[in-house]
Amino acid sequence: MRVDTAQLLKRFYFCERLLAVNCAAWIPAVASLEIKTGLARILWECAEVAHALRNRVFELRFPSRLLEENKEDFALIELFAGVKDSPSAAGFLASVGRVLLPAVQNAYGAYLDASDDIADGPTHRFLSLALSEKAAQIRAFEQWAEAELARHPESRPSTETWTRAVGQRLSRIGDVGLGPMPIVDVAGPLPGAKAHHIPDKPARDERFWPCRFYWPDVVDPSFPYGEGLQLQLRSAISHLNEVWAIEAGAASLSTFAEVLPWDWIHDAARWTYDESRHCRMGYERLMAWGLEPGEIPLGTYIYESASGQDPIYRLGMLYFFETKNIRHKLTRAQLFHSYGDVLSEHDMDFDWADETIHASYGKHWLAELLTIRGNDLAAVDQIRKRCGELVQGCVSTATADEIANLKGVANSLVAKASRGSRSEECADN
Ligand SMILES: [Fe+2]
Ligand SMILES: [Fe+2]
Repeated sequence: MRVDTAQLLKRFYFCERLLAVNCAAWIPAVASLEIKTGLARILWECAEVAHALRNRVFELRFPSRLLEENKEDFALIELFAGVKDSPSAAGFLASVGRVLLPAVQNAYGAYLDASDDIADGPTHRFLSLALSEKAAQIRAFEQWAEAELARHPESRPSTETWTRAVGQRLSRIGDVGLGPMPIVDVAGPLPGAKAHHIPDKPARDERFWPCRFYWPDVVDPSFPYGEGLQLQLRSAISHLNEVWAIEAGAASLSTFAEVLPWDWIHDAARWTYDESRHCRMGYERLMAWGLEPGEIPLGTYIYESASGQDPIYRLGMLYFFETKNIRHKLTRAQLFHSYGDVLSEHDMDFDWADETIHASYGKHWLAELLTIRGNDLAAVDQIRKRCGELVQGCVSTATADEIANLKGVANSLVAKASRGSRSEECADN
């Protein structure tokens, strides 16, 4: 019946919402670039399903247009929220991949079997897609958990214990399922939980050349941004280094999830996913040129510039860079076209479209946050200005050694890329 349906969809909404928030919360602490970008994609998928579920509950007018938690689902919601406090990245990936996602997958399968695809057709359409996404997400989480355990074998015992505890708690409270939730007294933190916090330093994939500043022009204005091949390379390096923007979007999504309305999570999920696509554009481009990750700088300075500050500056940092760089993007796409570099042109062109959306997200949500805090909206510009100062402050701490090493890495990358392009020309001729 309509009311039962709405009640279940509301339960699913909270599960998807918390999956999205938790994936976001863990992104800065996960080192592997594949897992970081993969989590960004999955949190966006979860947010899209949550959005469709939420709209459907409203359509069913249950019992009003308010979307409050079902009291009987409280223990389930608390469990999904509690997995954010996993003892390690491996613990998070294993408990979500082996327990929470399969429970949601089973519930969706059972729902689609039991419900009426005529009366409830609109739900069937998006929940069928969600069901197929869940299967792919489970496969990804399984692989990532194993990869993370291979990197940190010392976390295997706590991961096993934690995953078992999450599974046992889920069975006791009655699973996600379709049935009514039994009233059980299992509130409180899970055994082995570790209070989650957003790290001040982001974890970095150890395959790349580790650094704070990822190209010499960041710390030395006399180092040319370059043209031709050097510009193509610089642009791909910039894209790869948008890894900071994935982390800033994800950290902000999680930090403000309970402060801002639902649309914040929905927009921030898309934002974070888009930045992961920009990062992958750079990665794929650099790999296609035959470069090795170990010779490619992957920096941290923009993320770190906002650390230790009011979290509004992390969001402000995204807005600052979106609005600072967007004017160059179309010109660069045209330059790449003139070089006959269709791939770089294609990447920059799509990037430009995304960044235009992001600039409006930044302006809108900074204003919403300031309104909630009772601040003047003029403070948006002050935040933007302060972000510029924070970045400048961090850049000014670059040491002579750091700059010299970075120039060495950048120059050999340019030289290698030039040799590659010359041999390509010879092959073409
Ligand atoms: Fe971007
Ligand atoms: Fe962006």
